[in-house]
Amino acid sequence: MRDAAAKKMSVNERPFVGTVHSETDARTGVRHVRCEFDSAGYQATLYAELGIAMPEAIARSVPKRQAEFLAGRYVARLALQDLAPAHYRDMQVGIGEQRNPLWPDGVVGSISHMDRVAVCAVNHRVDMDYLGIDVEALIPARVCREIATIVATRQERELLSNQGLSERVALTLIFSAKESLFKALYPSVRDYFGFEVAEAVELRLEEQTLVLRLTEHFAAKHGLPRDYVCQFTLGEKWIQSVTCGKFPEPVC
Ligand SMILES: CC(C)(COP(=O)(O)OP(=O)(O)OC[C@H]1O[C@@H](n2cnc3c(N)ncnc32)[C@H](O)[C@@H]1OP(=O)(O)O)[C@@H](O)C(=O)NCCC(=O)NCCS
Repeated sequence: MRDAAAKKMSVNERPFVGTVHSETDARTGVRHVRCEFDSAGYQATLYAELGIAMPEAIARSVPKRQAEFLAGRYVARLALQDLAPAHYRDMQVGIGEQRNPLWPDGVVGSISHMDRVAVCAVNHRVDMDYLGIDVEALIPARVCREIATIVATRQERELLSNQGLSERVALTLIFSAKESLFKALYPSVRDYFGFEVAEAVELRLEEQTLVLRLTEHFAAKHGLPRDYVCQFTLGEKWIQSVTCGKFPEPVC
């Protein structure tokens, strides 16, 4: 079915959609869909072909943005179909007030894209309260030096480098993990919050998890727990982070 859809997109000389891969994470139950895409093969008619509505703001944007938005919404559509095919067949994922995706009732989800890859993670809301995904190309060494102190403190960076991660991998991982946390918590916080609000406090390399801790002040202000486990995958040239879970039941 997906191969057929991908072939249909080859009307352009360069196919827009490449390999599509979907799986359910055994640890969390989260459905992941990842798809390679090629912006050079993008044309606006692909929106109709793939059954994705083009919002006005996207129609006004440059083709590169139209292409990445389409790839993100395409993987979102596939992920929703994985979750419940009959329910979400023609469902569109809208755009919220701060670019946050608007999921159908009963669904929690998140989208990320880099140059040639789009990823989406979804789950049923009854099973999960928050979910954020981020995929990030390894940050070049020069950029690392420029942004290191904005993204993380020296202690956070040392926590990772002390376990053998290079400066680039360490900073990209902290950056990506915090972005996944931002996306996971945005629906609860409903406002922008920066990298200084969370601290990387524990790295378990074998489990591929990084624990992020919110500042006491920020957590109390929004009635949130302080600790979040981010699950990461280290690729050769990219890092993927997923922060997801359930909030604890309130104690009466
Ligand atoms: C919003 C932000 C996280 C997006 O990350 P990015 O690296 O630019 O881009 P990505 O491809 O990974 O993710 C983009 C997708 O994130 C999603 N997204 C954007 N804003 C969002 C928000 N407020 N809440 C949830 N998801 C959001 C969207 O689906 C978007 O894709 P789309 O516009 O095509 O739908 C980033 O631009 C940002 O503002 N970061 C600073 C905030 C932060 O990370 N703080 C750290 C807190 S510890």
